[in-house]
Amino acid sequence: MFKEGDWLLIRYEDKKYLRRLDSKGSLNVKKDILKFSFLLNKPEGLRVGKFEVFKATLEDIILLGFRRKTQIIYPKDAFYIAFKLGIRKNTRVLEFGTGSGALCAVLSELAGEVHTYEVVEDFFKLAKSNFERFGLGKNVVFHLEDFLKAEIKNEFYDSAFVDVKDPIPFLDKLHRVLKNSAPVGFLLPTTNQVVDLLSNIKGLFGGIEVVEIFHRYYKTVPERFRPEDTMTAHTAYLVFCRKIYN
Ligand SMILES: C[S@@+](CC[C@H](N)C(=O)[O-])C[C@H]1O[C@@H](n2cnc3c(N)ncnc32)[C@H](O)[C@@H]1O
Repeated sequence: MFKEGDWLLIRYEDKKYLRRLDSKGSLNVKKDILKFSFLLNKPEGLRVGKFEVFKATLEDIILLGFRRKTQIIYPKDAFYIAFKLGIRKNTRVLEFGTGSGALCAVLSELAGEVHTYEVVEDFFKLAKSNFERFGLGKNVVFHLEDFLKAEIKNEFYDSAFVDVKDPIPFLDKLHRVLKNSAPVGFLLPTTNQVVDLLSNIKGLFGGIEVVEIFHRYYKTVPERFRPEDTMTAHTAYLVFCRKIYN
């Protein structure tokens, strides 16, 4: 049942709205009004006139609710990343940089513990406030620190993800703080960055893969089932590898 304070995904035709259930609130779209008091104690997944009301998922929260000041990692990439990093409830994951916290939210949902590093205070605060607003990430340790300067003693991570402009200066340290065979991923927007990384990674990491994920939405009209007219052509390249013992 819906209750006060729930985060809702409200759909109206092809529009999506993320709202908090405040019984005094309402949503006006075109000439229709959805009064939130009507939703209280009603079953989740409700159709009210042209409105459809659901409990918000993590994807809804990240895409519609997270405040962003950096480019974020989108769910199409984030869940594949979590899969490739072998994340499970008993794993400790390392991430830098935190940015707006979009990938971190996915990692935290699946991992035992996430340690995330961000060097810019404004972004560090933004990511923390995104988590607080939606009650996420009790298993996340946020570090306001340059990962390169961070003192990490006798801590070994099961896997790591790196989303910074130039990952090459971090490779030695990354290698040092990971368990043997640990999976690592990098997100890089341009081919030049990928080539640079490939030229520098071989001594430390093996099992290298480069992948790009395309995501094409379809119109959901049964009589005219076909792809949407526009799609995002490129977000970023993903590079995955594993720590080689040396
Ligand atoms: C593109 S954003 C990351 C976005 C994030 N993956 C998300 O999904 O929201 C890259 C971040 O890396 C941070 N960064 C750059 N160099 C860093 C360093 N040496 N240590 C920690 N964070 C760093 C930047 O300040 C920036 O916020």
